[in-house]
Amino acid sequence: MDIRQASTRVTIMAAAAVVTAVTWVAARDTGTFEAQQLPDGVTSAMVSAGAELFSGDALCHACHGVDGTGVANLGADLTDTEWKHIDGSYTEIVDLITEGVAAEASTSGIPMPPRAGANLSDAQVRDVAAYVWTLSLTQ
Ligand code: HEC
Repeated sequence: MDIRQASTRVTIMAAAAVVTAVTWVAARDTGTFEAQQLPDGVTSAMVSAGAELFSGDALCHACHGVDGTGVANLGADLTDTEWKHIDGSYTEIVDLITEGVAAEASTSGIPMPPRAGANLSDAQVRDVAAYVWTLSLTQ
């Protein structure tokens, strides 16, 4: 192959690499979870609504960080696959957010208030739990 063919080939390979990288980044985006991957009764619309709540009105970000990776001596990392208080199933995440974590049970000694102290409705708790459920899958 001459130099021109070779450079075309390099360009195509570079373009393919970019497409692969973009697809991978998009797959990490919460909106792209396929319905069949989500727990029963959870929709991708709930995950998106929950993502907004997490970094907004639900106050989760104050103790768990905007990206959910936790704040030292405060809220736990929610993006890893290790759970301190629950088994990580969707229903247990819903229950934990509803009930919070007592100071005695918290490894940081800091309590998590029921419904994050944000007066969340049951539907909002389910939405934010749906988002939290996806966090440990995006590792
Ligand atoms: C006032 C601070 C605070 C707020 C606000 C808060 N949390 Fe927490 N959260 C905690 C603490 C403290 C723990 C227990 C951490 C520990 O034991 O190390 C915890 C634990 C958790 C756990 C269990 C983690 C595990 O490993 O078992 C989940 C899930 C969770 N929070 C989700 C949320 C969500 C979702 C929100 C928003 C709706 C929220 N939290 C708001 C402080 C907070």
